[in-house]
Parts: sequence; structure tokens; C-alpha cells
Amino acid sequence: MSAKVAFIGTGGIAGAHLNNLKTFEDVEFVAMCDVVEEKAKARADEFGGKPFTDYKEMFDKVDMDAVYICTPPFAHGEQESIACHKGVHMFIEKPIGVTWEQAVIINDMIEKSGVISSVGYHWRYGGNAQTALSVLEDEIILGSLGYWMGGMPGVHWWRVRAESGGQHVEQTTHIFDLCRFLVGSNAVLVHGVANSGGMTDVPDYDVDDISMVNIVFENGVVANIASSCAMKGWGRVQLEVFCHGLVITVGGNAPLVNREGKAEEMETKPSLDRDRVFIDAVKSGDDSKILSPYSDALETHKITMAASKSFMTGKAVDV
Ligand SMILES: NC(=O)c1ccc[n+]([C@@H]2O[C@H](COP(=O)([O-])OP(=O)(O)OC[C@H]3O[C@@H](n4cnc5c(N)ncnc54)[C@H](O)[C@@H]3O)[C@@H](O)[C@H]2O)c1
Repeated sequence: MSAKVAFIGTGGIAGAHLNNLKTFEDVEFVAMCDVVEEKAKARADEFGGKPFTDYKEMFDKVDMDAVYICTPPFAHGEQESIACHKGVHMFIEKPIGVTWEQAVIINDMIEKSGVISSVGYHWRYGGNAQTALSVLEDEIILGSLGYWMGGMPGVHWWRVRAESGGQHVEQTTHIFDLCRFLVGSNAVLVHGVANSGGMTDVPDYDVDDISMVNIVFENGVVANIASSCAMKGWGRVQLEVFCHGLVITVGGNAPLVNREGKAEEMETKPSLDRDRVFIDAVKSGDDSKILSPYSDALETHKITMAASKSFMTGKAVDV
């Protein structure tokens, strides 16, 4: 039997999921919702399903097993709540929102309703991250350095703090999440600093140009994660994990494993398909293979929300 799937938000990332899901024989698209009518209609014409501009109407009129929530960060909240009430499973794109309080409420609703949730932290499913995880199983991790230094994405909401949360919340969240995933622990202390003032040529821009966040994890590991969107034509997007005589690098061009100064040859594990894992969970009711349920994504969100607070107060935040 096919899983009946609807979409809310049919922009860039929705396109990536739709093109992947359309290759699955057991997925049927039943609805496409976007506040921009032409976008919803165009996706419905191409992939199937009924177009909507209002997700409340969509939830009322369409029978579905799962919904992909691919709206910008500021637009989360009510659709997750309706999905919980209706028992609809959810794939939710990262970040899960722009505030801490709302994410806690949604997490509670998800836990109580028992719907399956998966958040779009796809780095976890990559072959390099999977291999890194297995190498690190036998090591004592000391610290980690992460970077998302690059240019600015084109979508208008990204440069508005109230709509995206800023780069560390919206984009570098992948690196914060990968760090948590590989370190295998949650944060206990976060301190961050940020600077801006260089992006004077960009209209409606109020996010940080650059930020750096120090984290102490429960297991003692320390990390620093940097973000910048001010680079043009230059980028460094990766996470390094440091152990005694061992450096693991996920992303970028460095070898995955460097042991005592030498690149270590090894077979990389295959990448997992996050959409396949989610659809399998929806069909079977077994969510044990989902690597980033909402409750786990909340722990990553906790770090980026604490960093935002620290940028403003200049103080370290106990989390
Ligand atoms: N996992 C990844 O690697 C990855 C990559 C890109 C984007 N994303 C995430 O996906 C989300 C969307 O990003 P995007 O690049 O697709 O943005 P986008 O602007 O291209 O698409 C968002 C769509 O949502 C629609 N929308 C806004 N409010 C809505 C509402 N209330 N109801 C219905 N539709 C609504 C917009 O009209 C737009 O079409 C962001 O949170 C972003 O961080 C994740």
C-alpha cells in the first residue's frame, strides 16, 4: 500500500524531497500547500495531489498518512499542532522554529499524540558521518571545530533575524547537530560572540555577519562552531573531531580519517536515504531507524537558541 503524502511549503527544499519521493513506488502525493497559489499549483501539476493555499483547509479536506513541512523557520507551529491532533506523521525541515518556547510545546504534542516525526538533519544519514560514528565508537573524543563559512542564500526571509533566527539557527544548525551526533552528548554550557556591519550592500539585512559559539557537552567534550555568510566565492563547511592522535573531518576536502598525520584508507559506509527511512517508518509504525526525531532535534535547537541569547547578553548560558 502507498503512503499518502502532503506538502506544506513547496519551495526549494520541497523540490528536493518531491524529486526523491517520486522515485518511490509506494508514495502517493495527495496535496500541495503553499501560501503562493502558483507554487502550489505548479507542484500539484508536476507531482500530483490537490493544490491548497491554506493548510487548515488541506488538513480538513484531504486524507493523508504523512505531511512534509517545508516552510521557512518563522512559519512553524500551527501546522505541527494540527498534524498531531489528526494523527498525521511529520517530516519537518530544520530548523524546527525560531523560538525555544514554541518548539518545547510542539515536542510535547508530538510525544503525547504518538505521531512519528523526522527532522531534516540529513548530514546524519551521510556515508561519511556514519563511518565517522563507527570510528569514534572506540575513541575518547576531546574536542571539535565546526564551520559554515560561505555566502548568503538567496531566499528573502534568510537575512531577517525574526524570520530565520540568523545563520547559526538556520544553516549552521546542520553542523551543531552533526557535532552532537558524533560527540554523542548534549550541551550543558553555551557561550557565543557575534559581529556584523560588513554587509552594507544587502537590503533588509539584520542577521550576524559572523559568529563563534563555544559549547561544553555533558561528557566533557568542548567544541567551537563558527558561521559567516559574508564570504563571496569562498567557503568552508565541515566539522572536525579531535581525539588523541586522530582527526576526523566530515565535509570539506580533507580525508575523513587522519591518524597520527597520515590519511587512513577505509571503505566509507553507504549513505542512508532520509526520505526512505521516514516513509518506511510511516508504513510500518516503527520509527527506530529515524536518526533525528523532533525530541532529538530539540537538543540541537537548544544550543542555537542559547547561542542567540549569549550573543545578546555576552554571558555564558547554562542549558
Ligand atoms: N535539509 C536541508 O539541507 C535544507 C536545505 C534547504 C532548506 N532547508 C530548510 O527548508 C525550509 C524551507 O527552505 P526553502 O529553501 O525551501 O525556502 P523557500 O522560501 O524556497 O520555500 C518555502 C516555501 O514555504 C512557503 N510558505 C511560507 N509560509 C507558508 C505557510 N504558512 N503555509 C504554506 N506555505 C508557506 C513559501 O511561499 C515558500 O514557497 C527552511 O527551514 C530551510 O532551512 C533545509
